[in-house]
Amino acid sequence: MEIVTTIAAVRDHVRRWRSEGRRIAFVPTMGNLHPGHVSLIEAARKYGDRFVSSIFVNPMQFGPNEDFAHYPRTPTQDERMLADAGCSLMFMPDVIEVYPNGSERATRIEVPGLSRILDGEFRPGHFEGVTTVVAKLFHIVEPDVAVFGEKDFQQLTIIRRMVADLCMPVEVIAAPTVRDSDGLAMSSRNQYLTPEERQVAPRIYQTLLAAAEQLRAGETDFAGIERGGIQALEGAGMRPDYFAVRQAQDLSAPGADTSHLVVLTAARLGKARLIDNVQVKK
Ligand code: PAF
Repeated sequence: MEIVTTIAAVRDHVRRWRSEGRRIAFVPTMGNLHPGHVSLIEAARKYGDRFVSSIFVNPMQFGPNEDFAHYPRTPTQDERMLADAGCSLMFMPDVIEVYPNGSERATRIEVPGLSRILDGEFRPGHFEGVTTVVAKLFHIVEPDVAVFGEKDFQQLTIIRRMVADLCMPVEVIAAPTVRDSDGLAMSSRNQYLTPEERQVAPRIYQTLLAAAEQLRAGETDFAGIERGGIQALEGAGMRPDYFAVRQAQDLSAPGADTSHLVVLTAARLGKARLIDNVQVKK
């Protein structure tokens, strides 16, 4: 695996591979890799024959009071994990390489509507930062395929919409959420949990599963399911931001005949803010 830090070096590699007829699969990350990220690279292997992964903690997607400065950065460990997973090229740029004019005044990309609901309501500007950096990374890497985790279901939905709206020639692939044995979705932010909080955190997935079971059984009182979810999370000592039943296609409000639903939640537990979701196909 080669490690590069400049856009020019990424383009050199990718253009050479393309001239050799290679298909390029891309996995963008913010580093501090865990098995969930490795599963994205493994998913990418089905769709390409050269693999690029970026490690970039993107300042634009963090709010002023969020954890940008403290976000875990583990480049040596990331390098080893990517090499072991069969990654061909690791792109680890500095902020100045990605935002030559600074991130605050940089040109932005926003998917209206979708970016302002659910997590967007609680993290203003977050998804604008995500779509802006992902669009930039797509311009730099020019992948045929890009893989994103279903754990960030709203992010995945927004990126799909951006790709469609901007006619980007990238196929977006969703990879299933990877969970610890007790159901907690893997996330770099799980390490903010104390041992006691870590015991409680799987209640998020259990609460989502209980809601999914109600939906599968034909329950259509979505507001009632949402209230029940909030109460269950609060009862477990968390501070939920939302617990929402939506149409999986576009995160709009579901109807009684919606056949593909998603239940999404974000909850604060100690210093961590955890998100998760489950899909229900009827
Ligand atoms: O999901 C993430 O890790 C980030 O939001 C992404 C897609 C790498 C953009 O910074």
